[in-house]
Amino acid sequence: MKWLVLLALLFWTAGLCSASAPCWLQGADESACAGMMLTRGATAGPQSTLSPYRVAADYDKAHHRFNVHVAGDEFRSVLLQARRPGSTEPVGTFLPPSERSGLKRITCSSQGDSITNRRPLFTNEIRLTWEIPEGESKLGEIYFVATVVRRCNSYWVNVQSQSVAELTRDIFWPGTVPEGYLWSTATASYQIEGAWNHAGKGESMWDHYAHSVGSYEGDEATKSYEYYSRDVEEIDGLGLNSYRFSISWTRILPDGTVAGGINQDGIDYYNNLINELLINGMTPYVTLYHWDGPQALDAKYGSWLSDSIVKDFNDYARVCYQAFGDRVKHWVTFNEPWSFVMGGFGIAGAPPGIWDSERTEMYKAAHNVIRAHARAWHTYDEEFRAEQQGSVGIVLGSLWSEPKDPNNPQDVLGAHLYQQFVLGWYANPIFGNGNYPQEMIDMIAASSQQEGRSESRLPVFTEEEILFNRGTADFVGLNQYSARLIFATDQPTEVDETGWFNWMSIMVPDLKGYQETVDPSWPKGEMIFLRVVPWCVRRQLDYFKRTYQYEGAYYLTETGISEATFDPPKLDDVWRQCYYMLYTNEVVKAIELDGVDHRGFFAWTLMDNVEWASGIHEHFGLYYTDFTDPARTRTPKGSVATYREITTNNGFPHGAAHTMTAQDLWDWCHTQEPYTEAVSQEAAHRTTADPTVDDFLPGVRVGAAFRDKVVKNNNNNNNNV
Ligand code: BGC
Repeated sequence: MKWLVLLALLFWTAGLCSASAPCWLQGADESACAGMMLTRGATAGPQSTLSPYRVAADYDKAHHRFNVHVAGDEFRSVLLQARRPGSTEPVGTFLPPSERSGLKRITCSSQGDSITNRRPLFTNEIRLTWEIPEGESKLGEIYFVATVVRRCNSYWVNVQSQSVAELTRDIFWPGTVPEGYLWSTATASYQIEGAWNHAGKGESMWDHYAHSVGSYEGDEATKSYEYYSRDVEEIDGLGLNSYRFSISWTRILPDGTVAGGINQDGIDYYNNLINELLINGMTPYVTLYHWDGPQALDAKYGSWLSDSIVKDFNDYARVCYQAFGDRVKHWVTFNEPWSFVMGGFGIAGAPPGIWDSERTEMYKAAHNVIRAHARAWHTYDEEFRAEQQGSVGIVLGSLWSEPKDPNNPQDVLGAHLYQQFVLGWYANPIFGNGNYPQEMIDMIAASSQQEGRSESRLPVFTEEEILFNRGTADFVGLNQYSARLIFATDQPTEVDETGWFNWMSIMVPDLKGYQETVDPSWPKGEMIFLRVVPWCVRRQLDYFKRTYQYEGAYYLTETGISEATFDPPKLDDVWRQCYYMLYTNEVVKAIELDGVDHRGFFAWTLMDNVEWASGIHEHFGLYYTDFTDPARTRTPKGSVATYREITTNNGFPHGAAHTMTAQDLWDWCHTQEPYTEAVSQEAAHRTTADPTVDDFLPGVRVGAAFRDKVVKNNNNNNNNV
């Protein structure tokens, strides 16, 4: 008997365990091993709630590496690897554990590093360090996987950690963006130019709409028409190499058409601005339509409701390519079509002020926007590209939608559908298969049928149009400010238990069965819709890449935060300094960790301006604008220096002073504290339980007259779910 025990111990100590030793220790192929283990009846399975093991990893800031930690029920040995999806090839190296751990490092064929205990020692955790390999791209997709040997005949196969992208979601990541990256700021003509009816400019839909609701702040705005050189000086003061601005259609074509005549003063104005930018080493990034379409065309045929606008927009685009294309190499056809279509043709919060109770007009308007985009892209492609060598893209905006419970497939589906109904509505025709997302087609067709309609409320693209739409972008601009949590419910209420208004029931009315909320820990700024959620940037990029397989150039074409009006103004805008530190670091992560071809960051916005229907009371600017002064004097806020440090250093190089500051302030910037000061007394007293529709609209606020209708309709819809 005694010799039997001794023999058993000998095998044990040698780590052989004969027939039941894990085969990868003997150098066989691991996938074969996994099969063998299972056929031998071992206890094995992927990481699940049943698994007694967990692999976790955290980033070691000081040494720029990951500490990986396998823990669980006691185990005897473990094979630990860093891997990419779809590959069993290990990436990088694990450092051996300290001598005292009693574990030894052994190498087992090509399968990577394995840490095994060759003595009869059981443990319930090991900690290892993974050195980040030099020059590895797309680190974000890597994850850690452990094959745990519990007993000689009891294994647990492939217990996984989250991916590095997930593990790095909230951490500061020192690093830089490539040379040539566009560091920029963005503005829009209506919000800054003023001179609404000067020098030949025609009336825009925003001029008309604002006047009709008694608002005249856009008439002079920040007077950039007059003082554009001052804008360029300020951009220079920010250390930027680019500027995104928009052209006012009616400054070029006063009645919206070429037949109505080209306004030379308008051409001169933009020529001067473009030349001034170029002289100062700044790349112009030009939007053709940032919401201020010609009022004459709205009066003539209902603007975006008529397909006549496709030709007129194309003519306008052609005039711009012809006049400025020798110097402008980045064209954006539309800024955030979802916002102006929904705002103007859905919820009456923007011109032309249509309250679309039938839920038809917004789809018609969007249809013509997409057609107009595709047409303008083809015009550039066919008539200008060869000579001008520029690019034409579009700027899309969507809040990021995260499933409230990632383990609930219904919530996951809801979050996906939200993206499809907001982003995909425009992205799928242009970056996807040329048509609307199938989910939209099916769901709107079904509800149209239920409503007794003979055809879907969603218009249909012809086969020819689908082909014409597809691939009509040389880059994508994404405006990314914030995120929402989406959850499935068949009883949506106006305000959820945390007090959050179910904004999506109004803004995404055909997506029924879901509700939105926010995580109460996300810091809130002045504009209640904007919760500070920096990781929305990477999530949205990742979603876009995966959904459209789009490997082209990405730009973050807008992001920013506002403060209320204060007297005297609060120039030490610590909230904005935090915000830009957090959000610029996201693009560094997207480039370094996720391998995204990201080419530019555009802060919204250069100076306090006319925030659409909110007028001059929402201050998004890096520079303060004194609206009481006829010259609209500007003063840099504290964030000018912060943004400048980041832009002139191309991000956060290791060891730079501002990198260390960002590192130090990182956790604090994720708390509510820095943002609280941005909020007005009035808003500060607002309890979370009483927000209204007015509080939730980005840039536009539904007029009180429409609110009751909106809420009433919402209730009716909910009852019909
Ligand atoms: C728009 C800007 C607006 C900003 C802040 C963006 O959606 O493009 O024009 O000022 O949001 O609301």
